[in-house]
Amino acid sequence: MNSKKPILPAEFLLGGAISSSQAEGAYDEDGRGLETQDLRYFDYHWNREQRDHHRNVNITTPEFNQAKVTSQTDNYPLRRGIDFYHHYREDIKLLAESGLKIFRTSISWGRIFPNGDETEPNQLGLAYYRDMFKACHDNGMQVFVTILHYSVPVHLVENYGGWQNRKMIDFYVKLAKTLFENIGDLVDYWLPFNEINASRFNPYNGVAIIKDQFANEHDYLQACFQALHHQFVANARTIELGHRLLPHAKFGGMIARFTTYPATCLPADVFKAYTDENIKNYFYTDVEARGSYPYYMVKYFKRNNINILMNSTDKELLKNNTVDFLSFSYYMSMIDTVDIKEYRKTSGNLVSGLKNPYLKTSDWGWQIDPEGLRTSLNEMYDRYQLPLFIAENGIGAYDKVENGKINDDYRIQYISAHLDEIAKAIIDDGVPVIGYTLWGIIDIVSCGTLEMSKRYGIIYVDLDDSGSGTGKRLLKKSYYWMQRVTAGLKG
Ligand code: BG6
Repeated sequence: MNSKKPILPAEFLLGGAISSSQAEGAYDEDGRGLETQDLRYFDYHWNREQRDHHRNVNITTPEFNQAKVTSQTDNYPLRRGIDFYHHYREDIKLLAESGLKIFRTSISWGRIFPNGDETEPNQLGLAYYRDMFKACHDNGMQVFVTILHYSVPVHLVENYGGWQNRKMIDFYVKLAKTLFENIGDLVDYWLPFNEINASRFNPYNGVAIIKDQFANEHDYLQACFQALHHQFVANARTIELGHRLLPHAKFGGMIARFTTYPATCLPADVFKAYTDENIKNYFYTDVEARGSYPYYMVKYFKRNNINILMNSTDKELLKNNTVDFLSFSYYMSMIDTVDIKEYRKTSGNLVSGLKNPYLKTSDWGWQIDPEGLRTSLNEMYDRYQLPLFIAENGIGAYDKVENGKINDDYRIQYISAHLDEIAKAIIDDGVPVIGYTLWGIIDIVSCGTLEMSKRYGIIYVDLDDSGSGTGKRLLKKSYYWMQRVTAGLKG
């Protein structure tokens, strides 16, 4: 093994990521329609336990209906975000000045088609994204667009039932086509769906399905997988169209990577972790990258009495329109075993897991595991031989402002350890990794718990969980550290 510390290559795309629903705010401005993320309720008086409890509870139909008719923003933090909608020019300039080379954000579907099923787009929405992406390029940053990051027009849920309805494919493809035709020249990388495995692990966010509308667990699961199939088809049709309209554009697949180790070397634990990896991760990338449903899912569906309805051309469409690269979010790893009572539980992104005795956790209980990222990169490249992109990584932490400064050494340590492992994967192991976008590069509202106090950014935003504060941006210690890292990358 090489004893010199490997360094990221100069062409590596180091950048930052956010999503429209967690950052933009301005939920009812310039013709934007109401979206599913605008309806998620939060009470800043909740204690830790209540916050964590609500994180795991899907929205109920009464909550959804109540939220639809209220115009207050106080208890709906995703309606206000960090007001990026009105501050994007300054924010993008700050990001560019940290030396980052790429910016990832998502499109608010409701800004382009307020109800989702109109024939004509909202020009103000298109103008906003055009201007924002132009600002990125003017400031020397490439653009990485997620077409759908968890938020769909509420009208599509009420009138069509969300992604369980096949009509969603056409509405989505119309959105994609509109984007290709109007802002396609400004986008460098496309991600049709954020974390497509959220369909199973967070269905309200992933496929716009409300759990209490199903008679039992089986019907719910059936709807989630049917909805997922519609997203797979929409993904393939988008890639087909995108390759035709934008011959130079690159289209990626993305999952939330649940890296899972066997808790012991007991062969039954090894097999449990192996099947978990398949069912939670690889099923989704197998379809997106290999173009067909894998054998183990055929059996899984049979065992669970799940029947996916497909059109006669779906299989061919999936086969012929696979992704150009694969990406994933990576925050932590977990362990699995056949003997779970032996282990303590701990939290994680979208799912909870068992505590690995060798790993420390973040303030929110997510297990910090930089080496697991190297392993995951190797495993994914070995399986698909496609370039990889780490679309999200970062640490949610409580930051303290002391004398106008934020000394977030814990964040520097976290990012630095993960970048080191990526460098090893590239240089020592030979894995082609295109880039890395740090999640929540500027503080935004947490998607899981809706807390503003769960901060990921290298730029601090002066807002608290109740939405109070000046909204002013402050540069953290990690921002200045990032400047040195990016300067090093430029050689
Ligand atoms: C990812 C999502 O799963 O995790 C993001 O794509 C989210 O939207 C991120 O913000 C971190 O999760 P959280 O719950 O800490 O915001």
